[in-house]
Amino acid sequence: MNRAYSGYIDLSYSPSNADLVAEFLLEQGRGVSFSEAAQAIASESSIGTWTGISTMRPGISEMLAPTIFSLNPSSGTAKIAYPIRLFENGNIPQLLSSIAGNVFGMKEVKNLRLEDIDFPAEYIRAFKGPKFGIGGIRKILNIGRRPLLGTIIKPKLGLSPEEHAEVAFDAWIGGCDLVKDDENLSSMAFNNFERRVKATLAMRGRAERLTGERKAYLANISAPYKEMVRRAKFLKKQGNEYAMVDIVSIGWSALQSLRDENLGLILHAHRAGHAAFTRNPRHGISMLVLAKLCRLAGLDQLHIGAIFGKMEGRRFEVKKIGEEIEHKIVHKDFGAHMLSENWLGIKPMLAVCSGGLHPAKVPLLINALGNDIVIQMGGGIHGHPEGTVKGAIAARQAIEASLKGLSLREAAAMHSELRIALQKWQ
Ligand code: 3PG
Ligand code: 3PG
Ligand code: MG
Repeated sequence: MNRAYSGYIDLSYSPSNADLVAEFLLEQGRGVSFSEAAQAIASESSIGTWTGISTMRPGISEMLAPTIFSLNPSSGTAKIAYPIRLFENGNIPQLLSSIAGNVFGMKEVKNLRLEDIDFPAEYIRAFKGPKFGIGGIRKILNIGRRPLLGTIIKPKLGLSPEEHAEVAFDAWIGGCDLVKDDENLSSMAFNNFERRVKATLAMRGRAERLTGERKAYLANISAPYKEMVRRAKFLKKQGNEYAMVDIVSIGWSALQSLRDENLGLILHAHRAGHAAFTRNPRHGISMLVLAKLCRLAGLDQLHIGAIFGKMEGRRFEVKKIGEEIEHKIVHKDFGAHMLSENWLGIKPMLAVCSGGLHPAKVPLLINALGNDIVIQMGGGIHGHPEGTVKGAIAARQAIEASLKGLSLREAAAMHSELRIALQKWQ
């Protein structure tokens, strides 16, 4: 046993509001016990290193050593309470370099997954959280209680700004509230950002006049930081309300800074790339952790995946994340690997379900997650046999039917658009 990694366990300890609690799922490496591996994690993620050092004053560990207060080798979980003084308030990169940093590569662990974090009030208070959140978004769009309908312009790359704007127009007049760029569309030789925004917003105005509904364009500003801010300001100047960012590829520093710019734009979070660390159930960082950090950082709505969509993902995971981002108090008995959290004054984020959805999935989604969701379909709208307008009409019919308590079969008997969509996908 490595003595440098000892003295961190106290199973009688109960965390206080001066602790940040992290739950890890852990498999020990060869030649070490579960508790040794857990202590290696506690040590390396806080103040320790692989050997004793002459510079370690006793006062340091008294003040800053974390405590492993729960160890369960059969389920593989270890819970660690970290004194809040280990962390700089309002600095997500520093938090991750601590508890989601070196530890993933240590020899003492074969696999390690950061499942959840419970933030103490003092830590939460250092963040602004979402500027608009669910209530703000509903107010701006003037949409009461129903789920919002969104689409992603497809093909994801290849359309010109004018073609892009045409497709957006079709989606809006068919019944979409939100139209968004895809994750890998920024400013391309064939589709320049400024030209696209101007053309799309011109069509937005027409669609609003025709339908009498508010419509929104989620333009992807993901780019190096200064350029991203320049694009965000351009959006604001053009009269747009929304910007979208790829949260994983632009990074936490950029996300926090963008929120601090206080540009008055609703921020949509796309999570492309998350599966590099969320997909392996034994190693990495959970989507739940990512979602919590997004709420702290102040994104207004988050792509949380889809139930029975095109990407790998479990139904319960999606529900759990929905619960975490949309409620003030989250109870730990909600499910496995869920710590309790009180979000204090931080606004709820709107959950965006997306990835392989189509009208037949609508009742399922509303049943599982309620009305406070965006139902977003790319292929499920533009793939309608009669085109984008009919595709959006069908999707909206599916939402209306669910709200009225009608089955899709009953609604399809009255609406040919929905009927044709169901024939293709059900
Ligand atoms: C996409 O961008 O095509 C997908 O919706 C990504 O879905 P995921 O984030 O749920 O994996
Ligand atoms: C997204 O960015 O969420 C996706 O592009 C969804 O596309 P899909 O509905 O065609 O899977
Ligand atoms: Mg996409």
